[in-house]
Amino acid sequence: MVLSCCSVGSHYHPVAVIKQNIRRLLLTFEALSDLGPAMTAERDFSETAPQMLASLMDALDAREGALFRFSDKPAMMVSVADRGFAAFPQPALIPLLPKHVHTLLKTPAPSHLTFDNWGDYLSTNGNLAPGLMKCIAPLRVASRLVGMVALGQRAEAAPYGEEEMHTLGLLSHFVAMHVHNHNLTETLAQRVTENLKLMATIHNFYDNTLEAFAAAIDFKHVNIHGHSLRVGRYASDIADAISLDQSEVAGLRAAGYLHDIGKVAVDKRLFGKASALDEAEFREMADHTTLGHQIVQGVQFPWAKIPEVVRSHHERIDGTGYPDHLQQDSVPEAARIVGVADTFDAMTSERPYRRPMSIGEALNEIVKLTPTKYDPVAVQGLIVQVRRDTVANSAAQMTGKWAQPKSDKPKFLDDHLRCDLGPTDVDYIASLLQHKMTRGRVYSA
Ligand SMILES: [Fe+2]
Repeated sequence: MVLSCCSVGSHYHPVAVIKQNIRRLLLTFEALSDLGPAMTAERDFSETAPQMLASLMDALDAREGALFRFSDKPAMMVSVADRGFAAFPQPALIPLLPKHVHTLLKTPAPSHLTFDNWGDYLSTNGNLAPGLMKCIAPLRVASRLVGMVALGQRAEAAPYGEEEMHTLGLLSHFVAMHVHNHNLTETLAQRVTENLKLMATIHNFYDNTLEAFAAAIDFKHVNIHGHSLRVGRYASDIADAISLDQSEVAGLRAAGYLHDIGKVAVDKRLFGKASALDEAEFREMADHTTLGHQIVQGVQFPWAKIPEVVRSHHERIDGTGYPDHLQQDSVPEAARIVGVADTFDAMTSERPYRRPMSIGEALNEIVKLTPTKYDPVAVQGLIVQVRRDTVANSAAQMTGKWAQPKSDKPKFLDDHLRCDLGPTDVDYIASLLQHKMTRGRVYSA
């Protein structure tokens, strides 16, 4: 995985590994923050194409690179931006045979280019010398080839390692979207239709990229594998259950994916400790909130609340949380939702020093601490989503298989969790919450 310390040789000093991880994260985030606005900018493609290429090259320490768009009649790659080459044709044209188009479409990830394998990807009949490029990333949107990024030498002639190739693959999603948009300008009607479709899937593209980050954060230690991905899912489903609008739902998913990004710098020994953390260790662990905030602040995300969630997801309503000891409404709503999702996942996950709680135990414990520590509305959303699963489970028991809910929504709880509750058990827990919130007052119409 791109960002994990495990992708670096074990002979590296841990501090060097941490520094390298953070540097890679920062470079990638910087490139993402540049690429995001470029996609929706009103500026001319002739301005944004070199800018995108430059961001991507900076993230990879590439000295030489070029961005191509695909033209299908006749099939060829045409350069739209280049940077760093001593001499580069204007434009560079590389004709493609059907076998090349097929290979570029089917190649799942960026590939190294050598003099010998150039002919597998590109014809040699163009005006660009084979051997000039060291690696390529085909740009695709859905199943359509839209262009490619080709990179030449890196700084100090360093090779493109596994990490750089993965980062290139990640960033090329964004470039592909923008090149595709540009290609569509040729037919206005087609452009409007396609853009609408693209806008509908833009969060998926974004999610895919952030999912990769989440997986990288969780790769730190086996005890937190899958945690960020689950928190992203739980938080967005809670937001959905409490009727936040869809941009907030998508934003909360992204924020959940990234909430623990500061943990990349925490000593991984702490994640595997078989007992509770001592004071110094707790402080180091708690610093992941402020460090994560430093990492993401200033990055222009499509959803502006990500930095506040990263910083404040451990704040609690009664002021006992950290790092700023915020109280009541000063804890941002998004952080309160991610805080509930995070707590629920932590409670239902195994730790070296305790067994995982059952779903019922976790819900009861959270309700017990609401509204003292947790936001009752977010907890209500959690209960609604768990109930949805219990209803589907009951239906499945009757039909003998998992019954998909009518909305085709995937189930809420992660696959590894066994739900020990029925709908009436959840209703009882919901009534406990209701009772606490109304302090036992009974209202009649
Ligand atoms: Fe956290």
